[in-house]
Amino acid sequence: MMEIASYAKPYLASLQPYVPGEQPQGGDWIKLNTNELPYAPPATVREAIAGEAARLHRYPEPLSGRLREALAERFCLETGNVIIGNGSDDLLNLLVRAFGGRGRRTAETFPSYSLYPVLTGIDGGEMVSFPLGPAFELPEEAVSASGADLLFLTSPNAPSGIRFANEALRRIARSIKGIVVIDEAYVEFASGSALSLLETEANIVITRTFSKAYGLAGLRVGYALASSPVIATLDRIRDSYNVNRLSQAGALAALAAGDWYVDKVTEIRNRRDRVRATLTGFGWKVFPSESNFLLMAPARKGFPAGAEAAASLEGWLRERRVLVRRFSANPLTAPYLRVTVGTQEEMDTFLKEADEWNQRV
Ligand SMILES: Cc1ncc(COP(=O)(O)O)c(C=O)c1O
Repeated sequence: MMEIASYAKPYLASLQPYVPGEQPQGGDWIKLNTNELPYAPPATVREAIAGEAARLHRYPEPLSGRLREALAERFCLETGNVIIGNGSDDLLNLLVRAFGGRGRRTAETFPSYSLYPVLTGIDGGEMVSFPLGPAFELPEEAVSASGADLLFLTSPNAPSGIRFANEALRRIARSIKGIVVIDEAYVEFASGSALSLLETEANIVITRTFSKAYGLAGLRVGYALASSPVIATLDRIRDSYNVNRLSQAGALAALAAGDWYVDKVTEIRNRRDRVRATLTGFGWKVFPSESNFLLMAPARKGFPAGAEAAASLEGWLRERRVLVRRFSANPLTAPYLRVTVGTQEEMDTFLKEADEWNQRV
């Protein structure tokens, strides 16, 4: 049986697949590890999805046209500037297939979303990674000189939560003769976006998702905004029915329920800032975040910040049924833990347990 695997493209044997965050199904975990919204969707969204169930014997609308129109209207763009994906992951994949991958120069900054190199590898390409600075600053000069055909920038960055300045993004877009993807998966939690750059920079693609601020991670809907030739190229290679009926209906209803989401996002942003203040009060380094998570370097007396302290707190929290995300594979990220901002009750428990770890001698 083993030999059958060798029928595959040879480079796939050494491909490191993407490792999603832990997704325990059920149990009494406080789940603060994959940056989801801690609230179930409003009734109107659930009803819209349930309403589509009666039409599941019919194929979905192939272009996701109504959703494209609704998004185009929201951002004062044309429908030709919008494409919908099965999660933004689907669109990142299309971007690699169209503009990066094999025989192309595909670049990213590190750390960022660890799916980019995997998608590049699947296409037989190699990712060039430019490390962010020690405080996760954008290495503007190196990236500008990268000669990338396709460059991925995550802003607000994951896992730091820091958003890159539009002027730096514009300079980068003008320096490289390739596509610059600005992954704005967390932008609704930020104080601004790169949207205005689309007016002047035809090589910028903004990807966004309904998985985070819209709390629809389980539905799988994302979108990209870009100049019409870029969107047309992506449309040419996507699966014809890449977004199912339930997802199109749910995302449309979520857009219509805007006020509900604005309240929730405001709540999360305020809570994020309060939690950061408490953690900083522990004496920990915590980056200012424009997302729905915080990156922190735990430390206590006799236990300085570092990979061991991060592992210790993660284990301590896990024993108490609180899940956070650790990035142990790289020295740049090993001292840190990332915690998603959950409900007030969840954050109270997290802070209580973290404080107990902090007080130990
Ligand atoms: C930076 C970033 N981009 C994209 C995604 C994927 O989002 P989606 O659920 O829309 O595929 C994630 C999910 O964690 C992310 O962190």
